[in-house]
Parts: sequence; C-alpha cells; structure tokens
Amino acid sequence: MAEELTLDPTADKAAQYRTLLPQIEALVGGEEDLTANLANIAAALKYGMGFFWVGFYLVKGDTLVLGPFQGPIACTRIRKGKGVCGTVWENGNALVVPNVDEFPGHIACSSASKSEIVLPAFQDGTVKLILDVDSDSLSAFDSIDEQYLGQLMKLIEGLL
Ligand code: SME
Repeated sequence: MAEELTLDPTADKAAQYRTLLPQIEALVGGEEDLTANLANIAAALKYGMGFFWVGFYLVKGDTLVLGPFQGPIACTRIRKGKGVCGTVWENGNALVVPNVDEFPGHIACSSASKSEIVLPAFQDGTVKLILDVDSDSLSAFDSIDEQYLGQLMKLIEGLL
C-alpha cells in the first residue's frame, strides 16, 4: 500500500476525484476489515479533497451510530428520519444540502458546518451505512460530488 496520496490541489474538483478514487480503491484493496477501510477512506477524503468533516454513520438497530471519521467531534447517535443523515437512511436517496440552516431538523454537530452531502450504502437492498461530508462554506457540493461520491459508495458496498 502506498503511504501517501498523490494529489493535485490545483486541479478542478472532478479531476481531483478522478485522481483520488483509484487510490482509495488501491488503499482498501488489500484489507478486509471494514473499520480499517472506512477509517482510511475518511482520511483520504478529508485530506485529499480538503473537506471540513468526513465520516460514516453505521446502522445499528433503530439508530445510526458514529463510525470512523475525520474532523471535529460529532454527534454519536441519530434516529431514523432525523436530520440529513437520518433522512437519507429513511429514504435511501443521497441528499445535497446547500445551506444546512434551511434544512428542517438539521442536526448541528458543529456550528462551523454550512453545507453537506450525505449518501447511503446498501447491502441486500437495505441501507447499512451512510457517508456524511460537511463543508464550512455554503453550497460546497453539487452533482459532481454526487457523481463521484456515488461511485465511492458502490466501492464501499463491495466491502460490506
Ligand atoms: N448534520 C448531520 C449530523 C451529522 S454531523 O453533521 C457530523 C445531520 O443533520 O444529519
């Protein structure tokens, strides 16, 4: 496994994702432990893309429980249908939130977080975990993030 990511911060966002995703694939390729892989994916996304907060919430019974993440400390448990993460779990669709203050029921783990994108990963047709990426800027996420992070969720589904 390479110990450092090769990145070009001057490239546009799509190009950065295209550079990063194959490296993430290689990073998790030789490891079968889910926690280890999610931890490295969170770090690769945070430092590869410069996001404010990147982390996973895992479905455990009737609650999402905080998993591997990078960034400031965060809420540990989220109920189904609550906040952006709980809504994505309930509906099974990715959500891009340009302004978290305008999302009804948004759970503010950090007041610095201004926009976010949340995507689900499925196993046997059921949401097993979600990826939450937060930015300290408004409107930081768009269809490019949805496209490439969607590809990442397919990769993660292969690890479940
Ligand atoms: N804002 C999220 C909660 C998780 S934190 O942002 C890390 C939500 O509303 O679901």
